[in-house]
Amino acid sequence: MKRIDLLVTGIGCLVTPPGNVPRCGQQMKEVHVITDAAVAIREGRIVSFGPAKEVLDLLADVEIAETIDVGGRMVTPGLVDPHTHLVHGGSREHELALKRSDVSYLDILAQGGGILNTVQNTRAASEQELYDKARRSLNEMLLNGVTTVEAKSGYGLTLEDELKQLRVAKRLNDTHPVEIVSTFMGAHAVPLAYKGCAEEYVDFIVNEMVPKVAEEELAEFCDVFCEKGVFSIEQSRRILLKGKEFGLLPKIHADEIKPLGGAELAGEIGAISAEHLLAATDKGFAAMAEHRVIPVLLPGTSFNLGLAKHARARDMIDTYELPVALATDYNPGSCPTESIQLIMMLASLNLKMTPEEILTACTINAANALGRGRDIGSIAVGKRADLTIFDAPNLAYLPYHFGINHTFGVIKNGSVIVWNRTIVTKEAGKEEAAL
Ligand code: NIG
Ligand code: FE
Repeated sequence: MKRIDLLVTGIGCLVTPPGNVPRCGQQMKEVHVITDAAVAIREGRIVSFGPAKEVLDLLADVEIAETIDVGGRMVTPGLVDPHTHLVHGGSREHELALKRSDVSYLDILAQGGGILNTVQNTRAASEQELYDKARRSLNEMLLNGVTTVEAKSGYGLTLEDELKQLRVAKRLNDTHPVEIVSTFMGAHAVPLAYKGCAEEYVDFIVNEMVPKVAEEELAEFCDVFCEKGVFSIEQSRRILLKGKEFGLLPKIHADEIKPLGGAELAGEIGAISAEHLLAATDKGFAAMAEHRVIPVLLPGTSFNLGLAKHARARDMIDTYELPVALATDYNPGSCPTESIQLIMMLASLNLKMTPEEILTACTINAANALGRGRDIGSIAVGKRADLTIFDAPNLAYLPYHFGINHTFGVIKNGSVIVWNRTIVTKEAGKEEAAL
């Protein structure tokens, strides 16, 4: 072995799911725990990890440029948030009173509020304003321990405004240490200009938007809000198949409120993931299992909408052996939070997932929901050195001690970017207020 750029020592316990592929069913509980561990990093990748003594023996004659001691804390793979609506204008706290008086999410949307209110604010905002707002949220996510984030468009709903959102996401990816993975979601709602003519809007999406997004290489995935009163199964199929034709892999907001059959559609068209799934049926789960679709569950959304119903994570894991992933669904309507640690707690409380399953869902399964299982999502030799350092003695402590941020530090691509709960730059070695 040649030189080591960074040696991370003093790891009280290192916890990681193994391997690169989605962990299904009971495999989700099997995480590796190494006490008194160390991780060696070169050129942004992990070159060795294991019990500190073994790693240090291996490095006996190797030059080590920098060593950091994490003081006995717990280290996991950098967390991955595979479903967010990161880039948008404005906020919707004015809808709180309506929500509290039991006006439903879909009724607020049908009255021209909800997503359509955020569409107005997003169209009115400049690229710089959208960038500044999203960057603040991204910093919150980073401070929570997240190193890779998916970001959907879907608050523009015109060609120019959708491209504007996607360009902001691209610029964030280029300038912020957290990696941003973009999804085109022009089919998030039917815009007011097409009220009563949803089919014409779908024509516009497939004929104009998808080809342009693909041509400008602004997204890797295509998503649709497949829901009663929004986009039907037929419309969703048309949009997602057109996206696939143009190289945008399908994702789908499926069976969130009504059991329309979005989970079955995800199986049929070979979607990489299907999200929400509160109302999905056993037939839908079976179709997903058969076609290896990853369920991305969003317990913050059901919690914040005050729903009594939750996604059937136990059935998905125990009966259908699906590889469940978790995400924030960060958005200004149904889930205004950047906190993946809150989501971990809600997955424990409402989805009855174990701490080990939760870690797997927030790391390797989430990475696979973004097509990045070979690169991130577990601590393994050759993978990107993305690590989260927690002020916690063990995994169960995270959902147990709730409502606070346990993240002490974050390493992204082998660089320390959060230390002592503060964003730092490696070059400056001090707090970078501008981030
Ligand atoms: O995933 N359900 C549709 N889309 C988002 C909510 C977007 C919004 O309300 O602004 C979701 O929950
Ligand atoms: Fe969403």
